[in-house]
Amino acid sequence: MTSKKMISPSLLSADFGNLQRDIEMINNSDADWLHVDVMDGVFVPNISFGQPVVKHIKKHARKPLDVHLMIVDPARYIQSFRDAGADILTVHYEACNHLNRTIHAIKDAGMQAGVVLNPHTSVSLLEDIVQDCDLVLLMSVNPGFGGQKFIENTYSKVMTLKEMCLRKNPDCLIEIDGGVNLGNAGKLFQAGADVLVAGNSVFSSQDPTQTIAEMKRL
Ligand code: DX5
Ligand code: ZN
Repeated sequence: MTSKKMISPSLLSADFGNLQRDIEMINNSDADWLHVDVMDGVFVPNISFGQPVVKHIKKHARKPLDVHLMIVDPARYIQSFRDAGADILTVHYEACNHLNRTIHAIKDAGMQAGVVLNPHTSVSLLEDIVQDCDLVLLMSVNPGFGGQKFIENTYSKVMTLKEMCLRKNPDCLIEIDGGVNLGNAGKLFQAGADVLVAGNSVFSSQDPTQTIAEMKRL
């Protein structure tokens, strides 16, 4: 099975004073999804934005909203993020006591469901949940901020996860988030990643539309 080679630009690196303009750029690019980072200042040190902002993002976006919840006890907010316009909802393994229930609640609400692992969390812990997931997101930085350095150990995690998905759920997508750029994207696709989140490397480039197109072709 080959990589789907999808790109999900992260709005965290967009100009929050010009969100509509930056969403239009993504609409007119080869991006597949639009990555939306929700942070609560408790699960991660930073606070970003919540459902009211997601609702306005949804008004302008023509790509599926890939909403990454970096919040404690995310099960409380499944329906409200659905109502705000999320198409894909990912929750952290480290933030859920009843992950099986939460994943199924996300699906029952009509969204694609994914589990996110922090860099220190072993892929082996997914053995009994991967069959229920539409995707698994591996953090390749410690979550909370854009523009951080990619953690090299991610490549071996991708390969381990790919092997597990082939065994247990070949349709499960593998997504990578943090420090992705034109220098490591090709190697990540080769290792088995299907979807790459890219914030800083897209929005700080001279030509973000071109950078997205180039990343997909690696
Ligand atoms: C980090 C967020 C990422 C972030 C990625 O906690 O989950 O989605 O926006 O940004 P870059 O690509 O700049 O590392
Ligand atoms: Zn993210």
